[in-house]
Amino acid sequence: AVRLLRNGELVAVPTETVYGLAADARNPDAVMKIFAAKDRPRSHPLIVHVHNAECLSQWASDIPDAAYALAVAFWPGPLTLLLKKAPGVNCTVTGGLDTIGLRVPDHAVLRHVIEALGSGLAAPSANPHKKLSPTSAQQVMACLDGKIAAVLDGGNCTVGLESTIVDLTTDEIRILRSGPITRGQLEAVLGQPVILPQQHTMAVPGNMQVHYQPHTPLHILTHQALITALQHCDSSRCAVLAFGTPSSELRQIPVHTCIAMPQDKQAYASVLYQRLYELDQLQPACILLEQPPQTEAWLDVNDRLGKAASPLAN
Ligand code: TXA
Ligand code: MG
Repeated sequence: AVRLLRNGELVAVPTETVYGLAADARNPDAVMKIFAAKDRPRSHPLIVHVHNAECLSQWASDIPDAAYALAVAFWPGPLTLLLKKAPGVNCTVTGGLDTIGLRVPDHAVLRHVIEALGSGLAAPSANPHKKLSPTSAQQVMACLDGKIAAVLDGGNCTVGLESTIVDLTTDEIRILRSGPITRGQLEAVLGQPVILPQQHTMAVPGNMQVHYQPHTPLHILTHQALITALQHCDSSRCAVLAFGTPSSELRQIPVHTCIAMPQDKQAYASVLYQRLYELDQLQPACILLEQPPQTEAWLDVNDRLGKAASPLAN
């Protein structure tokens, strides 16, 4: 993998969150290949994955103390820090912006690769633009085979959802993407308020940014709405992702497939994309997902579900 990356090739790599599509961040030609392989607009900046917090100053400038405090508390781990970029960093990787997202991933094999390469790895999630992020090497191959030099198989991702992104470039500290590290955890380390983007709630037609989508239409419903929906359609063609053990009411309805999702947040997050991917392979007419709790602890899950869901037909 290191040899391929040195030669300017693309290698999909495991992280604890999702698989990344990596190129040497110091090589603009290699980074350009990422945009082509993903069919991603060139103005969308990429996260640079570094070996440890000591590398920050090679990539960022005007680094506030808060960055080091968060790095000590959460790196290696699912937290991306948005900082002002260092003058020498090429603009290809930042999508033309003067800021840069940096993260130390918590995956031993990947950190070994980054250290051996002696650079940073530009790596967005290893999915085609707007599709589901892969959490296994198999999923990477299913969507990017032929467009990458290799995938480094590091097993299933343990966290399973993309990192929390925190903007440290202004006086107010702001979460740009909710993720596994919560606002409460950040505030506890920083001792100051952290601004959270507006909470994503239920799927409202027209009020949704499409992203992270499975091929099969996905609808998120409360338990009662789920039962009602199944009673009014050809339920045998619908796949169901129940929240915990399916209720007896649900078990009485014949469905295409019914999967019990974990009720523990971390366990839920770690299998969510995998389950959606597996259901896609089975080609049901739709996936009906029983809504998980709407609490702050579940914010990242609800955020991704909101983006993965299709607008309701009526
Ligand atoms: O967990 C993760 O963050 C995964 C793994 C592979 O590290 N990566 C990931 O990358 O999710 P990507 O490209 O799929 O999402 C990164 C997000 C994008 O929405 C991008 O716009 C934002 O981070 N981002 C990166 N650099 C930025 C910058 N300089 N300014 C604003 N947003 C930035
Ligand atoms: Mg992505």
